[in-house]
Amino acid sequence: TTIIGIGTGSTTNFFIDMLVKHREKFYGAVASSKATEQRLIDGGVRVVDLNDALEGSSSIPIYIDGADEFNPQLELIKGGGGALTREKIIASASETFICIVDDSKRVSTLGKFPLPVEVIPMARKLIMNRIRDLGGHPTWREGFITDNGHHIVDIHGLTFDSAREWEEKLSSWPGVVTVGLF
Ligand code: A5P
Repeated sequence: TTIIGIGTGSTTNFFIDMLVKHREKFYGAVASSKATEQRLIDGGVRVVDLNDALEGSSSIPIYIDGADEFNPQLELIKGGGGALTREKIIASASETFICIVDDSKRVSTLGKFPLPVEVIPMARKLIMNRIRDLGGHPTWREGFITDNGHHIVDIHGLTFDSAREWEEKLSSWPGVVTVGLF
């Protein structure tokens, strides 16, 4: 009856390819993106909506995903693949988050990798201006629409030494859907 949460990206894809061989050992998976959902379905894994997975239980046991950067405090930048909102939702619904990363993702301070922010399209310029006010260099991932119908702005040129404070600050701006700090 176990349902597991599955992230998005090239690292997670390796994990999915191994996981599908064990599909008889668990009930199904919650997918963090349409791409992951398709890969799971192709591998014969039952994909479960998070609302159904939480029917009669307060959490799912485990979420497995990659990351774009991690620091010594195990804080993360995620969203390079643009799936950050669903990733954060499933991570928050899970008791344990197992993050699969190699050494190339290790940094002392987060921010070398541009920080993805998912935004409501009409607020894109407003948010980009506010990022500039803080000394950052925002770029719009033009042509990319998230699975939730939103835009992504990547923040270059800032370092996020207190990740939680940055997450709270940026998340409080109207029009910001999700900040890729985990
Ligand atoms: C997807 O939105 C991201 O959060 C991914 O977890 C991240 O980009 C890692 O991807 P790779 O495994 O391809 O590096």
